[in-house]
Amino acid sequence: MIKPLRKAVLPVAGLGTRFLPATKAMAKEMLPVVDKPLIQYAVEEARAAGIQQFCLVTGRGKTAIVEHFDIAYELESTLRARAKDAELALLREAQLPPGAVVTVRQQEPLGLGHAIWCARAFIGEDPFAILLPDDLVLSETPCTMQLADAYYQTGGCVVAVTEVPREQTNRYGILDIGHEDGRLVEVRGLVEKPRPEDAPSNLSIIGRYVLMPQVLEHLSRMERGAGNEVQLTDAMAKLIGHVPFHGLRFEGRRFDCGDKVGFLEAQIAFALKRPEMAGAVRSFLKNYV
Ligand code: G1P
Repeated sequence: MIKPLRKAVLPVAGLGTRFLPATKAMAKEMLPVVDKPLIQYAVEEARAAGIQQFCLVTGRGKTAIVEHFDIAYELESTLRARAKDAELALLREAQLPPGAVVTVRQQEPLGLGHAIWCARAFIGEDPFAILLPDDLVLSETPCTMQLADAYYQTGGCVVAVTEVPREQTNRYGILDIGHEDGRLVEVRGLVEKPRPEDAPSNLSIIGRYVLMPQVLEHLSRMERGAGNEVQLTDAMAKLIGHVPFHGLRFEGRRFDCGDKVGFLEAQIAFALKRPEMAGAVRSFLKNYV
């Protein structure tokens, strides 16, 4: 029996050093693309895929992220008194039902694998999605929904993948692939951040996963990998051969918002999707090319 996918873990403890000074006193996940913080895109994408329970793996200085999904009573009553209905609706969109969010702390930056392991009590025995809010996906069907569909089809782990230039394999988790069936590719191996000459392919994992809880057993050993961190990729690799494991060439475009240029590109791409501003954006862009 394939268990329903209802849980998501969102690691948000990162220091955001690539965005200093903006992230000196503010969580990088609160940086907006157009007018919505990165974390809200991730939560909305997960909810569209049927996720109902969220675990934010936070660290010091990240409370604004949790507040963002709360009820903002004072703001709501002020907006109501001023009959600002559209703005009120925007506030409500950024509100999660009671009990839908829990937080755990990752006290030390020991890696993505360690962050996921910190959520072990939340995950329990259930399948779960992971969304890394730095990765933003623009697609017809929300990326996590595409992964969920593939999970219900295969009953195992599914990671969203995309091709990257060979010289960039050392930035990502890279797949060793077997049989391909449409958008689904069989995963035969996984390597975290291999040098281009060692990479088994140029198919990289983006920050969207559906994983089986067995990954926690491997994470609990706290073995260090690339960068001397506890790597999620290494623990996932140990599941290959024990549970179905696929990569999904998702439909859509990924923007790496952990990178300044990627973040700027996301602003443009998402702004051009907004009818109320697309024209103005397109016309000012002409001044720069
Ligand atoms: C993490 C993962 C990596 C994955 C990437 C996607 O790396 O470790 O396998 O390809 O996210 O964004 P990080 O970006 O944390 O270095």
